[in-house]
Amino acid sequence: MAITTFADKTVVVTGAASGIGRATAMAFAREGAHIVAADLHTDALEPVRQEVEALGVRCMSYAVDVADEAAMKTFAAAVQSRFGAPHVLINNAGIGYLGLFLRSDLEHWQRILDVNVMGVVHGCYFFLPMMIAAGGPRHLLNVSSSAGNFPSPSMGAYAASKGAVSIWTEGLKMELADSNVHVTTVCPGVINTPIVRNWAGVAPSVSDETLAKMRDYYQREGCAPEVVARAMVKAVRKNGDIVLSGPKVGLAYHVRRVSVKLIRAIMIDFSRKAGYL
Ligand SMILES: NC(=O)c1ccc[n+]([C@@H]2O[C@H](COP(=O)([O-])OP(=O)(O)OC[C@H]3O[C@@H](n4cnc5c(N)ncnc54)[C@H](O)[C@@H]3O)[C@@H](O)[C@H]2O)c1
Repeated sequence: MAITTFADKTVVVTGAASGIGRATAMAFAREGAHIVAADLHTDALEPVRQEVEALGVRCMSYAVDVADEAAMKTFAAAVQSRFGAPHVLINNAGIGYLGLFLRSDLEHWQRILDVNVMGVVHGCYFFLPMMIAAGGPRHLLNVSSSAGNFPSPSMGAYAASKGAVSIWTEGLKMELADSNVHVTTVCPGVINTPIVRNWAGVAPSVSDETLAKMRDYYQREGCAPEVVARAMVKAVRKNGDIVLSGPKVGLAYHVRRVSVKLIRAIMIDFSRKAGYL
């Protein structure tokens, strides 16, 4: 059974201070859901909290680093004591990375994996038991990326992290197939969010010119984060399996299944145009 109405339901969104997370928190709040908005710092969440509450629903803002196991355990307990088990959990927080593999350092690899993979693992590990125990329809959305389906050059660590999220989420769907929790993998493509302005990791070899070109590309070609947010609301209502949002993402996803060589050529061309190859 799917969750079809959101009034008085609780939706947890990590990385809710910006981009897709922020748009998603707002989209569910507009549907009447109470929001738990988590991010690294509460001051960055303050505008989101105010906008959500202006819609007449409750909002709990919470500062947590999703990579921190102990902090995520405490976060889940705090949510449970205030709202009970969430109806929808969206593991969205993530960071980008740009740089050719042989010109990158291993420190970036570690942080990308800690946030993008372990952040999602922690969310699932600490929230799913209470969501299952509470019963009734519940929904988990793990935000991966189109990079988790087909990598692009210069984003190796990022693609590795998102590939891990996609493939692990697929396995989790099987483990939860007979449970009350439906699982959706969210694979956005190029979305115009601050992620390219706040790249957590940029290899020193990436020039300012390349970065500027890439930012322009995201601003020009990227779709709005609200599009992804609306697709997530729909995925919950319809018990969707996968969300493919962004320019040509659905097409590329299906081309990849037919011809790896073709998608490789497309990705090389895309990366050159975007300026990072
Ligand atoms: N923008 C895109 O083109 C795109 C494409 C595919 C996938 N995604 C994924 O969508 C998700 C959201 O990205 P976005 O584009 O909205 O980026 P964004 O930078 O606008 O927002 C990400 C948010 O996550 C928070 N965050 C980062 N590390 C965190 C941590 N350790 N703990 C808690 N919060 C943390 C940031 O503070 C920020 O508010 C990410 O997982 C990203 O990989 C984005």
